[in-house]
Amino acid sequence: LFSRPVNFVLGVAQLEQLPPEDKTEICFAGRSNVGKSSLINAITGRKDIARTSNTPGRTQQLNYFDLDGACYIVDLPGYGFAQAPKDIVDTWHALIKQYLRGRVTLRRVFVLIDSRHGFKKADLDMMKLLDEAAVPYQVVLTKADKLKKGQLEKRIKEVVDGLIKHPAALPQIFATSSEKNTGLAELRAEISTLL
Ligand code: GTP
Ligand code: MG
Repeated sequence: LFSRPVNFVLGVAQLEQLPPEDKTEICFAGRSNVGKSSLINAITGRKDIARTSNTPGRTQQLNYFDLDGACYIVDLPGYGFAQAPKDIVDTWHALIKQYLRGRVTLRRVFVLIDSRHGFKKADLDMMKLLDEAAVPYQVVLTKADKLKKGQLEKRIKEVVDGLIKHPAALPQIFATSSEKNTGLAELRAEISTLL
């Protein structure tokens, strides 16, 4: 599946612009700068199909990618801190929430968590929203290359333990690095099972 073509379809700034619900969708959510766009590039093997940046707030719309006609992969703007005006950030947050709550074809949300930081308040708020909306989600640790093996193992255990009280969270998590291309095969395999 992931050797097949992937194409940018559209950027959605308002709910009215969402494409028809006629295809399975998976999306990548997480705090600004956690590595959502980088991970989409890494799993699709494309250098910069999703634009990335060191500046939090790079992705400013719901960016839709079509994976060989089989599904949409959706790159969300980050939640939490972003280098953009407050009213604009508030608009993104409202859009993300409405999208996550109401999208019938959304099969799975990958909630990205920075390996170095673990769960932050903004992550727990997002997970609560998904629990309440009963949208199945799965945690993906990013930037695993930044931790030593022992530190990463500790983080994985802490995160897995923390998921027990979240009804819509799947128990299995992924530890990835888009920089070193680790953990990607497992994530691709999981996505393939959803189609
Ligand atoms: P927003 O669109 O602003 O919400 O950010 P994002 O979550 O899409 O993050 P993005 O992919 O733009 O990456 C943010 C920064 O983290 C960039 O400087 C990336 O190069 C860096 N980065 C992303 N993934 C990794 C990783 O696996 N390892 C390391 N070391 N850096 C990473
Ligand atoms: Mg981004």
